[in-house]
Order: sequence, then C-alpha cells, then structure tokens
Amino acid sequence: MALNIKKAKRINELPPYLFAEIDRRKRAALTRGVDLIDLGVGDPDIPTPSKIVEKLMEVASKPINHRYPNSAGLLEFRQTVADWYQRRFGVKLDPINEVVSLIGSKEGIANMAVAFVDPGELVLVASPCYPVYHIGTLFNGGRNYFLPLKKENHFLPDLDAIPVEVARQAKMLWINYPNNPTAAVAEEDFFIRVVDFAHRHNIIVCHDAAYTEMGFDGYRPMSLLQVEGAREVGIEFHSLSKTFNMTGWRIGMAVGNKELVSGLAQVKSNVDSGIFQAVQEAGIEALRLGDEVVEPSRKVYQERRDILVSGLRATGFECEKPRATFYVWVFVPKGLTSAELTTKLLDEAGVVTTPGNGFGEAGEGYVRFTLCVDKERLREVTDRIRQVRL
Ligand SMILES: Cc1ncc(COP(=O)(O)O)c(C=O)c1O
Repeated sequence: MALNIKKAKRINELPPYLFAEIDRRKRAALTRGVDLIDLGVGDPDIPTPSKIVEKLMEVASKPINHRYPNSAGLLEFRQTVADWYQRRFGVKLDPINEVVSLIGSKEGIANMAVAFVDPGELVLVASPCYPVYHIGTLFNGGRNYFLPLKKENHFLPDLDAIPVEVARQAKMLWINYPNNPTAAVAEEDFFIRVVDFAHRHNIIVCHDAAYTEMGFDGYRPMSLLQVEGAREVGIEFHSLSKTFNMTGWRIGMAVGNKELVSGLAQVKSNVDSGIFQAVQEAGIEALRLGDEVVEPSRKVYQERRDILVSGLRATGFECEKPRATFYVWVFVPKGLTSAELTTKLLDEAGVVTTPGNGFGEAGEGYVRFTLCVDKERLREVTDRIRQVRL
C-alpha cells in the first residue's frame, strides 16, 4: 500500500508560486515552436572568463582536491576574499573570523535564518525582493514584516515608517543594493541610516551585495561594511556568480561581524561539507584577476542596457536607466497588471519577462527585464514589443 506522505508544514505553508502560470505559458509556447527571447532569468549568458576555467582544469586533477573540503572554506580562499575586500572597498577583514565561504550566496542567505531566527521572531524584509530572504524566515518558523520599496523613495525602504513596536520586536533586516529586482542603488547616507537604526533597535543587518561589481558608467557600488559601526551589526553576502559569470559553479562568501559569521559557519559545518576545493582555487584566481576580467562583462551589459532602455522608451514604456545590475524595472502601463503585461509580452511577442509581484506584493505595477541575451536579440525585443497591443 502506498504511504500516506505528508510534506512538512513549512512546505505546505509556502506562499503561492506566482511564476507558475508564466512557466506554463512559456512551456506551451516552446512546444508550439515559438522562438522565445527569454528575459526572465537573471543568469549571465556570457561564459566564465577563460583564465578562471583554465585554472579549474589545472587544479581539478590534484588528488588533495578530491577529498572533503572544510565547510568554512580554504584559508587561502578566505584570505583572498579579505584581500579583495581591502582592494575593492578599503575594508579590512580577518580571514579566520570574519569570512566564511558559501556554496553560492543563496545557500548562506537561507542558512542565516537557521542560525539566527527562532520560531515567532520577526524579520524585516524589503518587498519586492529576492525571495530567499523571506522563505528562510518561514522555513524557520519566523515572521516576516515587509518594507515596501517605492519609486518615490528611490526603492529604498523607509526606515522611519517602521512602527516602533515592529522595530522593537525585529531580530533581523534584509537589504540588497544594487537591488534585484528594481535595479536601484543605495548611497552612503542610506547605509549610515541602516546602521544607526540597527544599533538603536538591536537588529542584525544582512546586506546582500551580489551585484556590487555590475555597476555602469564608472559607478562602483559600495559595501555596507564601509560604514562606521557596520561591523558591529552587519553581515554581507557576496558571490562570484554575477561578478565572474559563474552562477553554475556555486561559490560565494559572507563577511562581517564575527558572531554572525561564526553562527552561520556553525550551521554550515552541520549541514554541508563546503565547496569543491578546485572551485575554490579557481575562485581565488577570479578574485585576484578582478577587474581585468570583470570590466569586459560590464561593458557588454552596459551596451545591452542602453539598447534595451532606449528600445523600451521608444515603444512607450517607462523605466529608469539602471546604474547597476543586469535588470531593468519597467513600469506597467495603466489598465494592466504585472501578470497581464507579462502574459501579453509572452503571447504576442514571444518575450519572457517576470511580473514584479512575483517578487512581493509591492512589485505589482512593474515587470522585470534582464539583460542576459545578446544585443541583436535585445534589438529584436523592441521590434517585437512594438507589435503588442497595450
Ligand atoms: C539578489 C540576489 N542575491 C543572491 C542571489 C544568489 O546568487 P548565488 O547563489 O548564485 O550566489 C541572486 C541570484 O539571482 C540574487 O539575485
């Protein structure tokens, strides 16, 4: 007899998956043979720089790399992360106590709640956002309090609008700049306000900095840790995924407050065995190469951004020109919802985008386009969108 299998409550209580309908339509269109242009996923189409791939090939055969890695990461990898932070942000880190490697930043983001959120505890999460922040809370029995990101506030959370009672109860705050999905950026004054808010209310600040290297027109986004007092309250999640076109390699890091780093490392040592050491060695190579291999990608994305933004504007869409990330956050014309526009773009133009409300209620009214296809295809997007009846 078949087992009566019941999934855990944490699975059954997951919020509805808002991309299910778009996924279904996408599959149906592919089955009909439609030539889809997929601007839905934030996954670089540009290959990992060859010097990094060559490094992996060179070190993959070393028997020492075939054994269990240490879950915190090779000391040499953590030292290289510290050197990179020093070079890039002028932030000094102790590689032993203030750096931990991650199997991609997603893993660390999800495990952060395991380490620090007890059932019933409150977590402040921006909305719209990368969903792992609030799913992490839910998986661990915590409660989320959403901070809407509004255009009039440049898509930064309004900390003054948080009721005192909520701030008093809150354990943790998630922020992410440059931001997915809005492509907004934050300046020093915002990070200073965040750090001050965290000190006043005894709140852990988790900053997801996955996109700091994807800045355009010479703009170099900052690290939370550059702000005075940030190290007492904050941890920053970073990743080689977007910076070096290494999403498939699964390598990232969390840095900052040593209690926060050690809590996360403690969870990890119980649930994973770290990153394949050869990948860590290739990661060391990537961080050492730095801008030499990042700058060509920035140029590509910047050119694509200019093509897509001017094309969208020419067809009557409203959007900001992003200063960073490979996303364009497009305003939905009056009379349509995010889901309706996404459906129209897919059905009438064969262009896949993501409805803003898929990233949280406050994302309604927007659609996210990515820049992860080549410029010829992006030009085609404009031509195709012109045909859509809005
Ligand atoms: C804001 C943000 N943070 C984190 C991640 C996860 O990146 P990874 O796990 O590849 O480091 C993503 C991926 O899309 C993201 O958009």
